[in-house]
Amino acid sequence: NKVVLAYSGGLDTSVIVPWLRENYGCEVVCFTADVGQGDLEMDGLEQKAKASGASQLVVKDLKEEFVRDYIFPCLRAGAVYERKYLLGTSMARPVIAKAMVDVAKEVGADAVAHGCTGKGNDQVRFELTFFALNPELQVVVPWREWEITGREDAVEYAKKHNIPVPVSKKSIYSRDRNLWHLSHEGDILEDPGNEPKKDMYMMSVDPEDAPDQPEYLEIGIEAGIPVSINGRKLSPASLLSELNNIGGKHGIGRIDMVENRLVGMKSRGVYETPGGTILWVAARELESLTLDRETIQVKDTLALKYAELVYAGRWFDPLRCSMDAFMEKITETTTGSVMLKLYKGSVTVASRKSPYSLYREDISSFENGNIYNQADAAGFIRLYGLPTRLFKFCLEVKPWY
Ligand code: ARG
Ligand code: SIN
Repeated sequence: NKVVLAYSGGLDTSVIVPWLRENYGCEVVCFTADVGQGDLEMDGLEQKAKASGASQLVVKDLKEEFVRDYIFPCLRAGAVYERKYLLGTSMARPVIAKAMVDVAKEVGADAVAHGCTGKGNDQVRFELTFFALNPELQVVVPWREWEITGREDAVEYAKKHNIPVPVSKKSIYSRDRNLWHLSHEGDILEDPGNEPKKDMYMMSVDPEDAPDQPEYLEIGIEAGIPVSINGRKLSPASLLSELNNIGGKHGIGRIDMVENRLVGMKSRGVYETPGGTILWVAARELESLTLDRETIQVKDTLALKYAELVYAGRWFDPLRCSMDAFMEKITETTTGSVMLKLYKGSVTVASRKSPYSLYREDISSFENGNIYNQADAAGFIRLYGLPTRLFKFCLEVKPWY
C-alpha cells in the first residue's frame, strides 16, 4: 500500500503528502522529474518532501529524454495547437507520467497521485499516460476529492498537520516551466482584455528592450531533427537550452492566446518559447527545400491532428505513434542548415541549404534551360484549365459569375 506522488515542492503537493497518509493510510513516495524547470525549483526538495511526511523522494533527470523523444518529434511533425501553442506543457506530462509508472514498479507501489486540478488539461494527460502504460495502477487525485479550495485552506491544513509551509513566495500566476517553455495563467490574465504586465515574463526580454544589433544563427538539421548551432554539435537538451538563452535575449517566442481546453472551457495563457520558436522556423524553412507541394500539404494536415492528440494527452495512442512513423519517414531527407536572423522579437530566414534540396536553380531560373520547355506550358494550362472553360460553356443558363 504505497503511492507515488508527482511532487513539485510547492504548497499544493506538500499538503497532498499528509492528506494521502491521512485519507488512504498509505506510504507516500514523492517523485520529481527534472524536465528543465530550473535549479530554484529543484533545491532542497528531499528535506521538504520528508518534512511533509514522505518516506522518500525519487528524482530523475529526464531532460535529454524529454527533448529527444517528445519535443523533437513534435517539432519534426510541425505540431501547433490552435494556430499558436507549441505544446510545452502538453509534451512534458507524458514523459513525467511515464517515469512515474516506472518508479511505481521500482518501489512496489500500487497507486499514483498528482496535484492537477479537476478543471484542466494536465489531469487528463497524466491519467491517459497511466492508463496506456499500466491500467492496473490506482489513480488518486486529491483536488477532485478534498475540501481544500484555495491557498488559505492549504496553509491551514499544513499547520494543523505540522507540515512546514514552503517559504518560496508563491507567484500570483499559475506557471509551468520546462526546457521548451514557460506558461503563465491566472490572476490578471484571466481577463483576456488585460495586457500582460512587463515584469511577468521570465525567459525573454521585451522585444523593445532587445539588442539593436541583429544576430545571425545557423541551425543544423538531420532528418528533421536539430543537431547543431553554428556548426557545433550539441545534445538535444543543451542545444535547446542554448537557443533559449539566445532567443530570450532577442525577445523571441512570446505568445498570448485564448485556447480551448479539452474539458470544454476557454482559458487565456501566455507562453514564452524562445528556443522552440527558433527551431520551429528553421525546421519549416528547411522543409520548403526538401518536401514537394503535396507532401507539405498532407504533412501539415496531419500535423493539426497530431497537435490535437498531444494537447489532449493521447501521446501513447496508436494513432499518434503511427503518425509519428509517417513524420519520421517523410522527413528522412530533411537534412541541411538554415541561417536565421534574430532581431527584436522576430526570427527571419537569411539562407537555407540541403544536399537533398528539390530546388534546381537551372530549372527555376529566369534564364532559359533545357529541362523545362516553356512551350509545354501552353498544353498544360489548356488541360489544367479545362474545367474552368467548361463552367463558361455549360452554365449559359445560370452563369457562374
Ligand atoms: N494551458 C497549457 C496547457 O494546457 C498550459 C498548462 C499549464 N499547466 C500548469 N499546471 N500550470 O498545456
Ligand atoms: C491545472 O488545472 O492543473 C493546470 C491547468 C491545466 O491543466 O490546463
